[in-house]
Amino acid sequence: MARVIVIDLSRHNTLYVGHDRYFVLRAGGPPLLVRDHCPHRGGPLSLARPTPDGRRLACPWHGTRVGVAALRRGCLPMVRTGDEAVVVLPEDTPDDTPVSVLHKEVLANLPPGPDPDAGDPDASDRDTSDREPACR
Ligand code: FES
Repeated sequence: MARVIVIDLSRHNTLYVGHDRYFVLRAGGPPLLVRDHCPHRGGPLSLARPTPDGRRLACPWHGTRVGVAALRRGCLPMVRTGDEAVVVLPEDTPDDTPVSVLHKEVLANLPPGPDPDAGDPDASDRDTSDREPACR
């Protein structure tokens, strides 16, 4: 049976499930609970800046741009009522896995800014917009 938890989104934006961290991404539409893990080498996507078009996040570690659409496909199921969100944890989460919530700075929710890779000819090599992220 799936394990669920309740999060107050007015107070918390980060969820730990064992060693896995998720954050609330507000990228237009309803908030998403996405894994805080860049598919390149695990950088913190919560500290990524949105690209100018708002469709990708630029990882702070090496600049990989991760598509919000791909993150949406891999996010944890969440049903909201106001600020209360019921989250379904990954199916393979053992019953004794510690779960905690907290509030952290999430730069990914800032308004889109200038392209951090403007003028970088290698930037397109780091674009993973169409690839699946390494999240559950
Ligand atoms: S870990 Fe994100 S770009 Fe390398």
